[in-house]
Amino acid sequence: MKDFVFRMPAKIKYGVGISGSIAAVCAEYGAKKVFVVTDSMIIKTNILDAIKESFEKANMPYEIYSDIVPDPAIETVDAIADVLRKSGADTVVAVGGGSPIDAAKSICMLQTNEGSVRDYLFGGSKTVTNPSMTLICVPTTAGSGSEMTASAVITDNQNQIKLSVTHDYIVPKVALIDPLLHVGMPGMITATTGIDALTHAIEAYVSLNASVVSDAMALHAMRLIGKYLRTAVANGADIEARSNMAIASSIAAAAFFNGGLGVVHGIAQSMGGVCHVPHGVANSLILPYAMERNVVGNLEKFKEIAIALGENVEGLSLREAADLAPAAVLQLAIDCRVPLKLVDVGVTREHFPEIIKGTMAYRLLAVNPCKLVEKDIVDILEKCYE
Ligand SMILES: NC(=O)c1ccc[n+]([C@@H]2O[C@H](COP(=O)([O-])OP(=O)(O)OC[C@H]3O[C@@H](n4cnc5c(N)ncnc54)[C@H](O)[C@@H]3O)[C@@H](O)[C@H]2O)c1
Ligand SMILES: [Fe+2]
Repeated sequence: MKDFVFRMPAKIKYGVGISGSIAAVCAEYGAKKVFVVTDSMIIKTNILDAIKESFEKANMPYEIYSDIVPDPAIETVDAIADVLRKSGADTVVAVGGGSPIDAAKSICMLQTNEGSVRDYLFGGSKTVTNPSMTLICVPTTAGSGSEMTASAVITDNQNQIKLSVTHDYIVPKVALIDPLLHVGMPGMITATTGIDALTHAIEAYVSLNASVVSDAMALHAMRLIGKYLRTAVANGADIEARSNMAIASSIAAAAFFNGGLGVVHGIAQSMGGVCHVPHGVANSLILPYAMERNVVGNLEKFKEIAIALGENVEGLSLREAADLAPAAVLQLAIDCRVPLKLVDVGVTREHFPEIIKGTMAYRLLAVNPCKLVEKDIVDILEKCYE
């Protein structure tokens, strides 16, 4: 067995309806006033009802900021960091998917570290030196897993690229996982964010930086997603499916927080910056084709992925069994009715050079199981083009 380090990320508190105890969780961390960060869609649902009621019952002062839109930009984050500074709050609660959570991680970091979030993005001029303001995350998607990780993905519109702030100081204190908040999530968001979680598990598992501990988490996340994603998409009110997807997403994130990601996230992140394809949609489209390319990098592990996703590999050669993994993922994508071609999500061949440039610059491409060159990225993009 090779040497490894495994860092345990945020504390998970799970329960059906547990978001109704948010005030008590904040109080545990000494909160006197809470700043709630959410997005412009979530504020229109009933997701915040139990959270607001909890603060009101506990007489905990709070303020809600709900102007986040998907893929938060540098300017937005800097502006909200100012709003937070002036609010007098000492604790932040993020309610939403990866977008509000990543914005919240960034503004908490900017309360104790000077400058713009731009300075702290990959390749920037500053590194995080002080612990962030307390952050508690209540995820409403089972996808990004951002409630568990040490990175926040922020969009640089000027340079058409999505980059991350990464530091242990930005890991949230608590991930409060309440599957009841996922029940009203539309099928398409359930499907694409769920395949994002699957991508985290698969990329972490086959990463060159995987360890025996990240493998255990990644494999179990795959088993849960293979078993429950279709049901969560088909019947959003199925609380068993929602619960298992929510936990799968958090443990897949714990796996990739340690093991890393690969070419799928490289392309998806680049595509997000260049043509604003939502993160989960980009991953769903690319994952099966990138897996076809990566299979030869680790036949044994791709065979295990096929098994985790419920394929019967009895009597097959190692290669045949491994090849079932991308096929199983493609079938899952088809069953969940996600877009399957780039032309359907507004990507054209004119975008390819910029997407490829961003992908080749992606930090975690180094741990992809096969060393890839530009031609490989072109081949993957062509396979899912039309
Ligand atoms: N920091 C990390 O570790 C990490 C990992 C993966 C992805 N990301 C980032 O996270 C972002 C994507 O996050 P996401 O996929 O969770 O989506 P998101 O937060 O962008 O939300 C997508 C849409 O779903 C809606 N939504 C969310 N929960 C809902 C619910 N329960 N009911 C109804 N609508 C709901 C939102 O309002 C929004 O319109 C991207 O910017 C991506 O780059 C970060
Ligand atoms: Fe992701």
